Amino acid sequence: MKRLVLCNIIIAFILFISLKTTAAAGDSTIALGQAISGNQTLVSKGGHFELGFFHPGNSSNYYIGIWFKNIPTHDVVWVANRQNPISNPSISLLKLSNNGNLVLLNQSGSPVWSSNISTVSTSNSTFAELLDNGNLVIRNSSNPSTPIWQTFEHPSHAWMPGAPLGVNKQTGEFQTITSWKSSEDPSPGLFSLSLALDRSSQLVELYNSSLIYVSTGVWNGQFFSSLPDVFIEKFIYNFSFVENEEQKYAAFTLVDPSMITHTVMDPSGQVKQFSYLSDKKQWMLITSQPSALCDVYSACGAFGVCDRKSSPGRCSCFAGFEPVLKMDWDLGAWSSGCSRKTSFQCNDKSNKSTGDGFFEMKMVKMPSNPLKLTAVQSAEECEKACGRHCACTAYAFNGKCSIWNGHLENVEQLHDSDGGDDDDDDDDEFKAGSLFLRLATSDIPPSTNNVSPPILKSSNGHAATAVISSVVAAVLVISFAIVVGFLWFRRRRSASRMAKQVLGSLSSFTYSDLQRMTKNFSDILGKGGFGSVFKGALPDSTIIAVKKLEGSRQGEKQFRTEVSTLGSIHHVNLVRLRGFCCEANNRLLVYDYMPGGSLDSHLSRSTNVLGWKTRYQIILGVARGLDYLHEKCRECIIHCDIKPENILLDNELRPMVADFGMAKLIGHDFSRVLTTVRGTLGYMAPEWISGLPITVKVDVYSFGMMLFELISGERNNSPGDGRGYFPFRVASQLADGNVIDLLDKRLQGEVDEEELKRICGVACWCIQDSDADRPTMGQVVQILEGVLLVNMPPFPRFLQHLMDGHDSMYVNMSSI
Ligand SMILES: *[C@@H]1O[C@H](CO)[C@@H](O)[C@H](O)[C@H]1NC(C)=O
Ligand SMILES: *[C@@H]1O[C@H](CO)[C@@H](O)[C@H](O)[C@H]1NC(C)=O
Ligand SMILES: *[C@@H]1O[C@H](CO)[C@@H](O)[C@H](O)[C@H]1NC(C)=O
Ligand SMILES: *[C@@H]1O[C@H](CO)[C@@H](O)[C@H](O)[C@H]1NC(C)=O
Ligand SMILES: *[C@@H]1O[C@H](CO)[C@@H](O)[C@H](O)[C@H]1NC(C)=O
Ligand SMILES: *[C@@H]1O[C@H](CO)[C@@H](O)[C@H](O)[C@H]1NC(C)=O
Ligand SMILES: *[C@@H]1O[C@H](CO)[C@@H](O)[C@H](O)[C@H]1NC(C)=O
Ligand SMILES: *[C@@H]1O[C@H](CO)[C@@H](O)[C@H](O)[C@H]1NC(C)=O
Ligand SMILES: *[C@@H]1O[C@H](CO)[C@@H](O)[C@H](O)[C@H]1NC(C)=O
Repeated sequence: MKRLVLCNIIIAFILFISLKTTAAAGDSTIALGQAISGNQTLVSKGGHFELGFFHPGNSSNYYIGIWFKNIPTHDVVWVANRQNPISNPSISLLKLSNNGNLVLLNQSGSPVWSSNISTVSTSNSTFAELLDNGNLVIRNSSNPSTPIWQTFEHPSHAWMPGAPLGVNKQTGEFQTITSWKSSEDPSPGLFSLSLALDRSSQLVELYNSSLIYVSTGVWNGQFFSSLPDVFIEKFIYNFSFVENEEQKYAAFTLVDPSMITHTVMDPSGQVKQFSYLSDKKQWMLITSQPSALCDVYSACGAFGVCDRKSSPGRCSCFAGFEPVLKMDWDLGAWSSGCSRKTSFQCNDKSNKSTGDGFFEMKMVKMPSNPLKLTAVQSAEECEKACGRHCACTAYAFNGKCSIWNGHLENVEQLHDSDGGDDDDDDDDEFKAGSLFLRLATSDIPPSTNNVSPPILKSSNGHAATAVISSVVAAVLVISFAIVVGFLWFRRRRSASRMAKQVLGSLSSFTYSDLQRMTKNFSDILGKGGFGSVFKGALPDSTIIAVKKLEGSRQGEKQFRTEVSTLGSIHHVNLVRLRGFCCEANNRLLVYDYMPGGSLDSHLSRSTNVLGWKTRYQIILGVARGLDYLHEKCRECIIHCDIKPENILLDNELRPMVADFGMAKLIGHDFSRVLTTVRGTLGYMAPEWISGLPITVKVDVYSFGMMLFELISGERNNSPGDGRGYFPFRVASQLADGNVIDLLDKRLQGEVDEEELKRICGVACWCIQDSDADRPTMGQVVQILEGVLLVNMPPFPRFLQHLMDGHDSMYVNMSSI
């Protein structure tokens, strides 16, 4: 009893002391001998960052941290006492002690964290200040330019703009960004980002401080050679690399300083870069590295299985296993892995009933580090070889026997559609197939016949989703086969029947039906090189547009391309194909009718001019439709002919990308040299001419060219009114910051100038000479939505040539 009273007195005394010595609320500095406690905080001068005690999520542990003050979620960018939480902030102190060190004292007055500056200074001119870039510095007022200590040089889980990530050559200390264990536990997890440990000029992501699973590639003076997204790297973050006597480090600044970003090593092992949308009040993910969870080393920990097909990637436990840390697992921190529900008793032949057995996991990517038993010749012997050793946890046999001892890591569930992913066909490494997992008999799932993915259903049903999506994929494959078979059948039989449902929404029409529906092709909507388009009506009076393809060979090709690309995709900004007719020599395509007509007809109008808001929405819609084509479909589709003629508008002037007659399907991650030039002069990217590989960026180029038309209302092939080629004028006016002159005169200055600048910038980015310098359509969408802010684009070289009166790429193009 007495002791308790004494304790209270001590605590009260500490409180009294701290009240007398605390920094003033809302201050940005702590002076020597001062401290903060409880809900007191430091706020940087511009009010962007705040430092104080916080507790993550539902955790009852408290930490000293720095967070974004103006963002409601108060996302933390730095944590001091990651491994030593305190339980009661109101009687704990963060103090600038008399030796110049920042120390955190817990409620019994013991230091639980310190800035650990070795050179002790007793100067009372020392103070700690929270700066407006989120850096907490300790400095000496007699020499304020060189901080004695700063959080930027001792990062926790986030990499801040301006902070070095490298090595101090004198102390040998590396700056390391280390993941939290989970979103509620800031203590260091297994994943980190740092300069390569051999001090070469590249950054690496490490598992358990030693194993590299991502490398940025060597800095080439301009960018990291292996990062896939040079656009982000060069034009949004502006990375740089510095080496001098004292240190070697990478750093980045934001090209647009008003952008708010957050770069963190996530508990999943991915480096994620977010940008804050002030108007929507939310973070948007810009990139993650690696982009797939399953590419993180041991992402799912021991005995966990990663599923790439669930999006975003997810982990499950092997059958017979359960998460080691259920709480972390539920928070999406999977790297702690799974453990056995029942430990197996090493098989003792005398006790068959209670022993262990093998469970077949079908179609998985094999775990890392197998032991190869070259002498073993058959699956039975391989099973026996594993069964004999109590340490053996699994085996696999593909003509050769592999066994694994101890933990199984990096197992990935594969799906039927994944076939042939042996990218490096080097040695005889066994990469995928059936893995036989040793389990206690009681844990082996009953009747394993045809129960394919042998993974547990995770609590949120992702295994079920995976099964469903593979069923859907199978249905799609089958339906496509049906369509192809059906077309063939039709061609041979020329049967004439009523419209028939074929592929979900795609119908097959007879020629005579279409003749009736279009009143014998009497109401013509338009005419092009491919044939003509007629207006018609379905029996339920839905208005349709019927495209009749002409020119036997070309027509046939366009017909097939349209059916195969458009037949299987749906997006609000892509025109909907309702059906087709394929009878004798007739090839017709049936679409939803777009009452707004094509965009080019609106551009040339003198009345009912499209307003600025409408133009912006049209541009955004087209960008979203193209992003869907490029990124979100099962196969990547390049439209190859983006121009105002191929953008249709519905009755509310919403845009739909149409005319896929030139489209090209290309597997993701592949680019190809196409032999035939596709597209329309004036919209064609230089790589069509130069013979470089064709990628989705050709659509980005054409999109950029189209933007110029939407801004100016001038057609891109028109000579203008003597003021010069329009893209050139945009590029030069952007440099002068005066874009309003570029605007379509018919709008009479009715424009949001910010949006106009943004679109002019996007347009110039899209027509960069090199496809790598152009943004992806996804990034264009982000820029238009205001997620990504970009700076001034460089002047495209071909425009420079035009200005100098040299032969330009563009001029050459028009002469083909
Ligand atoms: C800080 O805590 C004190 C007492 O616990 C309370 O009276 C005060 O309102 C708090 N201040 C803020 C800004 O939350
Ligand atoms: C905190 O716990 C509640 C109830 O258990 C839950 O609904 C909520 O999502 C949790 N919040 C966080 C940030 O985890
Ligand atoms: C304060 O920290 C010391 C050293 O880490 C520890 O032994 C002590 O238990 C802590 N006191 C409280 C109340 O947490
Ligand atoms: C400070 O130094 C001590 C002893 O060298 C060490 O145990 C501790 O982890 C260091 N703290 C920090 C924050 O670096
Ligand atoms: C701070 O400045 C004073 C006066 O210049 C100097 O004596 C002292 O050594 C400095 N302390 C540190 C840690 O640099
Ligand atoms: C340092 O502290 C001493 C005594 O507390 C005071 O006399 C002196 O002026 C202080 N010096 C500075 C530079 O603040
Ligand atoms: C990490 O590495 C240490 C030794 O460097 C080892 O003891 C530990 O088990 C490893 N942890 C994991 C999860 O692999
Ligand atoms: C990028 O950073 C370097 C130095 O850090 C600077 O010289 C250059 O102007 C910056 N570039 C842009 C586009 O901001
Ligand atoms: C067989 O296993 C059962 C259950 O674990 C045990 O009770 C029994 O003693 C075992 N028999 C032998 C011969 O080891």
